[in-house]
Amino acid sequence: MENRFWRIEGRPEGTDFESALALVEEPLAPLGEGEIRIRNAMLSMDAGTRLWLTDREDGYQPPLPVGAPMTGLVVGEVIESRADGFAEGDLVRAFGVWGALSQVDAVMSGAMKLDPTVGDRRAWFGPLGMNGWTALWGIEQTGAAKPGERVLVSAAAGATGVLAVRIARLLGCEAWGIAGGAEKCRYLVEEQGCAGAVDYKAGKVGAQLDAAGGFDVYFDNVGGPVLDEVLTRMNHYGRIAVCGLLSDYGSGERTAPREYDQVLMRRLRVEGFFSPDFMDQGERLTARLRTWVGSGDLTMPYDVTQGLENTLDAYAKLFTGDNIGKVIVELEQ
Ligand SMILES: NC(=O)c1ccc[n+]([C@@H]2O[C@H](COP(=O)([O-])OP(=O)(O)OC[C@H]3O[C@@H](n4cnc5c(N)ncnc54)[C@H](OP(=O)(O)O)[C@@H]3O)[C@@H](O)[C@H]2O)c1
Repeated sequence: MENRFWRIEGRPEGTDFESALALVEEPLAPLGEGEIRIRNAMLSMDAGTRLWLTDREDGYQPPLPVGAPMTGLVVGEVIESRADGFAEGDLVRAFGVWGALSQVDAVMSGAMKLDPTVGDRRAWFGPLGMNGWTALWGIEQTGAAKPGERVLVSAAAGATGVLAVRIARLLGCEAWGIAGGAEKCRYLVEEQGCAGAVDYKAGKVGAQLDAAGGFDVYFDNVGGPVLDEVLTRMNHYGRIAVCGLLSDYGSGERTAPREYDQVLMRRLRVEGFFSPDFMDQGERLTARLRTWVGSGDLTMPYDVTQGLENTLDAYAKLFTGDNIGKVIVELEQ
């Protein structure tokens, strides 16, 4: 059986993904013991995967080698299985391949059977997916947000950010967002119930934050210079939950906070967290998130692109800021 998929041909510069990835066709090997073959229905576009396309060996996982298929989360139907617990016809989510098909080891790929009765299956990449787990964990566990506290979220109009904002509000906090552009800031206030939003592309970020007042929790998706502005506006005993460092991913720069001394001056706790570390708690987290999804309290927008051949355009949105909510590629079935 042939597979059509995106292969890594080199290391991308900035958002020039066209030069670094190629859509190719190759035959699949026969299914090995423990493997499943998935017909991908949807591909999840995740900003963190940009790090896997660099040469960095000191990331939270090794880079993907040049010549390998591009890896990412997929949702689809099992069409063949040699793995215990998985049968033809099962709807699953797994770390698969940006392609028509994913052939993966069920355990190593974190394959998980999904409830086919969930009406909007895009939710498996949104509130019921890794982004949902990450937002809940970062706000509640790492950020230790308490009712009444003021929570600030960066990249707040993106997938992880919108969910962090919503969850902070559901836990009784006052949510604030940082995002690029007036339209995203309007969206965060008017449609996501933020108390206010800071447009980091409009300049004078410090003054905008001063007008907002101090924060108890910073859910940071971005790092970079904005982190310095926030460090000097944190309330004493505040917590910074480091979810991502988006401003570094494509630039080759490293976040190096000039205002690091505020960690001592304000007695802050700064802690990184990483969703695969709590994958074993996925069922518990999903059950909790599902209650909010079921009651209609946890919704999010989707930015859907059709067709495998348009994957790179969809992916670039994460780095140009052209998305609101979760970026997904839907494939022909
Ligand atoms: N720790 C974990 O386990 C975990 C799990 C999932 C995701 N994450 C992290 O969550 C973050 C968001 O990822 P996502 O997949 O949900 O993407 P996303 O938020 O849907 O999209 C990325 C958004 O980031 C903003 N952005 C892009 N480049 C930026 C820059 N240089 N400076 C400031 N903002 C920038 C853009 O919005 P603007 O218009 O606002 O610029 C863009 O819309 C990433 O840092 C990712 O690594 C972490």
